[in-house]
Amino acid sequence: MGLDPLRILRTQHDDLRRGVLHASTGASDPRRPRALAARLQAHLALEERTLFAFWEGVLGQRRAIAVLRAEHQALRVAAGRFLREGGRLGAIRLSKQLDSHFAREERVLFPLTVAQLTANQLSEFGRLLRTPRDRVAWAMRRRRL
Ligand SMILES: [Fe+2]
Ligand SMILES: [Fe+2]
Repeated sequence: MGLDPLRILRTQHDDLRRGVLHASTGASDPRRPRALAARLQAHLALEERTLFAFWEGVLGQRRAIAVLRAEHQALRVAAGRFLREGGRLGAIRLSKQLDSHFAREERVLFPLTVAQLTANQLSEFGRLLRTPRDRVAWAMRRRRL
């Protein structure tokens, strides 16, 4: 397939992995952790509004997604701790959690998503991922892809 609608999420994973790795090797700029945590929050929220909502609403896979939602909550806690405490240790801890969660998504959820959706649904899905927040929430409720 030519177009990978999940490319946006993969790109965000790469950016976040790089950012956390950088922080764990002792980044000096104090503004970086805050910006990194904000990008992580945005990524988690985007997946919950699009990818997770799709699996739960359309395919009824609540249980499978519950694990990933719990990991998102754990990542939020780890990111909060990383911000409060700062330092390399928090970044290393966050980095480990991030790596295992992203790996699960990249190895299991993303390929399953591509396998489940028709070509039209996939391009629609890609469009949703690029749509501003309110319209995405609206679209997920109304259209159920
Ligand atoms: Fe995720
Ligand atoms: Fe993700």
